[in-house]
Parts: sequence; C-alpha cells; structure tokens
Amino acid sequence: MGDTAIPRLTPREKKGWRLTSILHRLWLLAWVVGMITPSDSSAQSAAASALPTLSGAADITGPPEKVGEALFNLHCVVCHQSGAKGQVGLAPSIRNRDFLALASDDFIRNTIATGRVGTSMMARPDLVENQVTAIIAYLRSLHVENPVTVHVDWSKKYTGDQGAGSVKFQIYCAPCHGPKGEGYAARVVGTGIGLPGFLSVASDDYILQTLKHGRIGTPMQPFLGAKGLANLAEQDVFDIIAHLRHLGENYVPEPAGIYREANPALGTTLFTINCAPCHQAGGEGKIGFAPSIRNRDFLAIASDDFITKTVHEGRQGTGMLPRPDLSEQAVADIISYLRAVPIVVPIDIQIDRQITFSGDKAEGETKYQTYCASCHGANGEGYTIGLPGTSIGMAGFLDVASDDYIFQTLKQGRVGTPMKSFLGSKGLANLQVADTHDIIAFLRTLPSKQASAKPATSDFE
Ligand code: HEC
Ligand code: HEC
Ligand code: HEC
Ligand code: HEC
Repeated sequence: MGDTAIPRLTPREKKGWRLTSILHRLWLLAWVVGMITPSDSSAQSAAASALPTLSGAADITGPPEKVGEALFNLHCVVCHQSGAKGQVGLAPSIRNRDFLALASDDFIRNTIATGRVGTSMMARPDLVENQVTAIIAYLRSLHVENPVTVHVDWSKKYTGDQGAGSVKFQIYCAPCHGPKGEGYAARVVGTGIGLPGFLSVASDDYILQTLKHGRIGTPMQPFLGAKGLANLAEQDVFDIIAHLRHLGENYVPEPAGIYREANPALGTTLFTINCAPCHQAGGEGKIGFAPSIRNRDFLAIASDDFITKTVHEGRQGTGMLPRPDLSEQAVADIISYLRAVPIVVPIDIQIDRQITFSGDKAEGETKYQTYCASCHGANGEGYTIGLPGTSIGMAGFLDVASDDYIFQTLKQGRVGTPMKSFLGSKGLANLQVADTHDIIAFLRTLPSKQASAKPATSDFE
C-alpha cells in the first residue's frame, strides 16, 4: 500500500519524525498507565450519583446551563469526565478553549445526533433539541481562561495532493491518530480524524484552524508556521486534508457477521473504550450504576446471544444504551474477553430457553413486593430510581431473558453481588420453585406499566 511507504525524509522531517515517535511512546505509556490505574473516581461518583436522578431530573429547572450540567452528568460524564475535561484515550476534552472557539453549535449538535461510527461516541438521536441546547449552553459556560475567537469557514474547500498528504499524514499525524486515522481503536491518544463521522461534520477550514491553534492542554499542538511543532506550511495541511477526505471515503466498516475467531486481546481494548466507563475496568460493575458482567454466575447463565442482543438493543430507559454500530465480530471479541475471566470455581448451568413456566400473577406480586422490590423497585425500575438492583421490570431485560434465565438467577444468585440465591433452605428467603414461577409471571406483566411511564430521556421537557 502506497499509504505506508516510508518516504525519504528531509532533515526537518527527520526531526519531526523523531519528535512524534518519542511523543507517541510517551503517550502510549500514558495510555497503558491510564488503563491500569483507576479512572477518575470523582467523575465516576458524580456519574453514579447522577444516575438515580433519571426520573427525578424532571424537577430541575433554572438557567439552561444548569439544566445542561445535569444532563451532561447523566449522559456524557462517564466518558468526557467531570467538567467535560476529557481523558486521553477515552474521550476528548470538550470544554477545551480551542475546541469551543472552533466548534459551532451545529458541529456539536450534529456530533451528538449522529455520533461517530467506529468510536464509542454513540449517536443520541433520542436527546431532544432543547436538551442538546442546554448541554451546549453548559459547555459554553465553563470557565475558560483567555478565551479566543477563531473564525471558521464552514463552506470553503482547499485543494491538496492526496498522495503527498498521505506521506505527511504518516509522519506527522499517524503516531497519534492511527495509521488510517482510526483514533482510539488503534490504541493511540488522538481522535478518529480519518473516520466519516468526524469528516462529515468538520469543514476543511475547521481542520486547518485546529492545526493552526492546536488544543491547549492536550497533546494536540499547533503544527503550522515557525512556532508550530513541525513548521508545516498551509499547502502541507491542504495535502493532509485531501488525504483525510480520501480515508473517510474509503472507510470500510467491519463486515457483518463473524468472520474470524474471537480475539480476547482486541476485546480488551473494545471493552475498555466502550463498556468500562460504566461497567468499570475489569467488568466488575458498580452497584446502582452498572452491573457486574464478568461475574461467574452471570456468565454461566448468559448465552453469547443474550449478551449480543443486550449490546445491540440496549435496555430502554436505563443507562444501557443500544450500540447497533458495534459489529457482531466486535461484540464476539468483547465476549471472548469477558469469558476469559479466571474463574476459581467454575459452574456449569444449562438454560432451557424454550421452557415457559406458568405461575399466579397475583401471588407473584405479593412475593415480589416482599422479597424483590426493595432492591429492584415496585415496578422493576431498578437503577433508574436509585436502587441497587437492575431494571428487571423493563422490556429491554424481559425481551431477552427467558423464564429459565430468571429462575436460574434466583436459584444461583450472583456471587459477589447483593443478588443472593433465594431458593430452598440455603437461599435468602427459602422460596419454593412454585413461588419463583409466580414472581416470573408477575414480572412479565410489568413492561406494560413501564411503557406508560415517562421515558428517562425526556426528563427536561
Ligand atoms: C461511551 C463514551 C462517550 C459518551 C457517553 C459520550 N461521548 Fe462524546 N465522544 C466520545 C469519544 C470517544 C469521542 C471522540 C470520537 C473520535 O475519535 O472522533 C467523542 C467526541 C465528542 C465530541 C466531538 C469532540 C471533538 O473534539 O470533535 C462532542 C462534541 C461530544 N463527544 C459530545 C458528547 C456529549 C454532549 C455527550 C453526552 C450527550 C457525549 N459526547 C457522550 C465518547 C463518548
Ligand atoms: C502528539 C499527538 C498528536 C499528533 C502528533 C497530532 N495530533 Fe491531532 N489530536 C491529538 C489529540 C489528543 C486530539 C484530541 C484533543 C483532546 O483530547 O481534546 C487531537 C485532535 C485533532 C483534531 C480535532 C478532532 C476533532 O474531533 O475535533 C484534528 C482535526 C487533528 N487533531 C488533526 C491532526 C493532524 C492533521 C495531525 C498531523 C499534522 C495531528 N492532528 C497530529 C493528538 C495529536
Ligand atoms: C453508559 C453506561 C453503559 C455503557 C457504556 C455500557 N453499559 Fe451495559 N449496562 C448498563 C446498565 C445501567 C445496565 C443495567 C440495565 C438494567 O438496569 O437492566 C447494563 C446492563 C448490561 C448487560 C446485562 C447485564 C445483566 O446482568 O443482565 C450486559 C450484558 C451489558 N450491559 C453489556 C455491555 C457491554 C458489552 C458494553 C460495551 C459494549 C456495555 N454494556 C456498555 C450501562 C452501560
Ligand atoms: C439485596 C438486594 C436484592 C434483592 C432483595 C433482590 N435482588 Fe435481584 N439483583 C440485585 C442486584 C444488585 C443485581 C445485579 C447483580 C450484578 O451486579 O450482576 C440483581 C440481579 C437480578 C437479576 C438478573 C438481572 C439481569 O439483568 O440479568 C434478576 C433476574 C433478579 N435480580 C431477580 C430478583 C428477584 C426476582 C428478586 C426477588 C426474589 C430479587 N432479584 C431480589 C439485588 C437484589
């Protein structure tokens, strides 16, 4: 591939290359350190304490930036961190002085609405216009020292040489943005600037201005002119832009289906980027926030299909957002990572997904309210109302969980979580098999009640 041919370097380029490769190594180190040290705990506790307000959030009134702050803490903080300051390798800073000077409201709006396929920035078409307006007001209200104004032309197009741009991109940009501009997925510190999601919202001038100004406080330095990191000329940047556009047009999303053996190492990276912000590093979960999904008992009863469906369809009304953009192969890689957990005492449980039990709904309701509601909510709302148990009354769960899945969970419990076994004399409540059938019958009646409840995302209308 011409893209990766090693060019003959001028002394200036050699200097640039050495510099970027040193930077690259430094930032790879930062990335690895970031992976093994616990991520920002204040942000996580902010997120954890924000989640229970999902339904209570409707009460928040006040200036748009206050409402926006609450919405941000609900929907964005897990990745963009408290105060929107970002975390290298996880999500960029979106309170950044230079970012805010360059990004128009429309740029931000479109990014939220369409997401960035191939990254963990998922599309959020469910956030309504005034919610997004409030979030933008919040971002723009964040104190920035020495604010700058930059005029970005959103329609101007520059002409450059893609071939020459490819060479310059490999030297100056690829160490941080990945060989094809794929961003974090290539385990680099920069964002996915070769991906169509970014290129569809960024004008040529937006890219030029980013290279002129850099992003203060991030690894993205100015590259242009004598004071720039690499003393690039405008024409060099036009060439690079031509190459970026070429990358975007030739972006091949992962093919559908499973086409190779699942790779747990790739799964680790995918998990760290896409799932760990909520399910925590190592997947151990956090009570009241996101469940443990590397749990022995969960993995013993959850089939690959159950996990894949949960990822693709999400659980409506909970923090588990649908990720239809993650390919089957990517999810298979994640599952292979989850299943690679060293399990001390393995258990083997067979789930019969065809079987349906018949129980008494009314009896079930009484038992449910006695034994389950304290953790899962009177209508199975779970985390969404600040309780420690998951949202087992919602369609998103009940549509993928078979009767036997629920029964086995009650029989087995989940080691290391508040969910204990409820069955038999060793169980927490000495429930009999018939009692569990009643409870299951009652649970199946709950989604219709949930459906009439307000969806969690229209909390600020
Ligand atoms: C699961 C993690 C995650 C969540 C949750 C998330 N983002 Fe992002 N966001 C990212 C990543 C990763 C990127 C960079 C993608 C790339 O490589 O281009 C990004 C990019 C962005 C950008 C573009 C920044 C730039 O430099 O161009 C904006 C704006 C943004 N996010 C806003 C939001 C808002 C607002 C929310 C909440 C509604 C949100 N994000 C929720 C991960 C996330
Ligand atoms: C030392 C690492 C590094 C190098 C080298 C680098 N970048 Fe960046 N770049 C970053 C980081 C990190 C960000 C995101 C800033 C943040 O985290 O807030 C970024 C952001 C950007 C953005 C804004 C993306 C967005 O989503 O809004 C553009 C455009 C960009 N870089 C282009 C380039 C180009 C073109 C080159 C090569 C000339 C380059 N960068 C070289 C690290 C780098
Ligand atoms: C923004 C936070 C968030 C992110 C990101 C996230 N999840 Fe979840 N996930 C949740 C929450 C909250 C629940 C519990 C939903 C409920 O109450 O039913 C959940 C539930 C699940 C479940 C069901 C667990 C069970 O006990 O039945 C699976 C499986 C799962 N997530 C997998 C994933 C995977 C794989 C990823 C990454 C691709 C991911 N999640 C990303 C928040 C998140
Ligand atoms: C002490 C609190 C508590 C009580 C009481 C409790 N649970 Fe749970 N339950 C939890 C927690 C916490 C989880 C999630 C465990 C995890 O993090 O993986 C859970 C998980 C579950 C799951 C798996 C959900 C999923 O998303 O896969 C089911 C089904 C369930 N509980 C049913 C019940 C039923 C039925 C009862 C009443 C008999 C009950 N629970 C009582 C705390 C509780």
